[in-house]
Amino acid sequence: MIEFRNVTYSVQTANAPAEPSAQETKNEDTQEDVIKPGMLWKRSPGPRLHHKIAASARRRFLRKRGRNLILDDVSFVIPERSISCIMGVSGTGKTTLLRLMAGLLQPDSGEILIDGQNIVGLPEREMNEVRRSMGFVFQYGALFDSLTVGENVGFGLEQMGRPKSEIADIVNARLKDVGLPDEGVRNKLPSEISGGMRKRVAMARALATSPKILLYDEPTSGLDPVMARVIDDLVVKSRDQSGTTNVVVSHHLPSILRISDRVLMLHDAHLEAEGPPDEVKKSGSEVVRQFLEGRADGPITVA
Ligand SMILES: Nc1ncnc2c1ncn2[C@@H]1O[C@H](COP(=O)(O)OP(=O)(O)O)[C@@H](O)[C@H]1O
Ligand SMILES: [Mg+2]
Repeated sequence: MIEFRNVTYSVQTANAPAEPSAQETKNEDTQEDVIKPGMLWKRSPGPRLHHKIAASARRRFLRKRGRNLILDDVSFVIPERSISCIMGVSGTGKTTLLRLMAGLLQPDSGEILIDGQNIVGLPEREMNEVRRSMGFVFQYGALFDSLTVGENVGFGLEQMGRPKSEIADIVNARLKDVGLPDEGVRNKLPSEISGGMRKRVAMARALATSPKILLYDEPTSGLDPVMARVIDDLVVKSRDQSGTTNVVVSHHLPSILRISDRVLMLHDAHLEAEGPPDEVKKSGSEVVRQFLEGRADGPITVA
């Protein structure tokens, strides 16, 4: 199980403005009731408006300090043995969400629990221990350039000290699963194969160590429909046969709706909708409807 509890994450923008003047800070403090970077409130504006006002105040507060709010007080649970899809337009923070889950980024505040253990601030050695139960398919494959395809897929097993013959068998089986049974491919370098093939190799590598949790960042983008279906089916198979917990970032609506148990729609630093795909489809949110219908006009704007 993966749980986010009130996770806030911001990044420094490239052209950070100078620190606000004392006067600006003073005005901001009185107008927005913000005390200091801890984002505490002097008094509550009332439950109904609380979140909305707090969110816009936090955003303004951070922007003045040259920081961009990516996740604002986000909470959710990814259940065990499920497929959860994270959707949202480019730049909303989907990759960031996965990187936080993997302990590759630290949130500004909040807790991230992996099977009940809070990984925020965990020392690297212990984090590595947690990561051993995870497999990653990064957005652009992120294979080791100097290792062959076969060595890439076998890398995690090698690290675990598995015997060579066993590794070879698993590597072959996983490459076959992703439609790359050819021995020629196994001995190639990542630079010698196509982008789509690199994605499939990344998938084979993630599955090789039989992790309990799998994080996939756009595993099917750039693949042809047939190969996308093969990858989707592998995710489903992994859940059904190995009982894995899967988080898939995807833009591909038909596959999101087909394979996921739960959908989380990220928009403007918060979760706009969350639930089983059928429920989310019926959501009254204009943002969700615009996304599902792929319309250019609506609340989602291109920055
Ligand atoms: N290292 C970074 N420094 C500054 N901004 C970043 C960094 N990484 C991501 N961002 C910003 O965070 C936002 C979310 O990025 P990302 O998680 O990659 O979005 P998505 O995967 O949904 O397209 C984007 O606006 C991006 O510009
Ligand atoms: Mg991304």
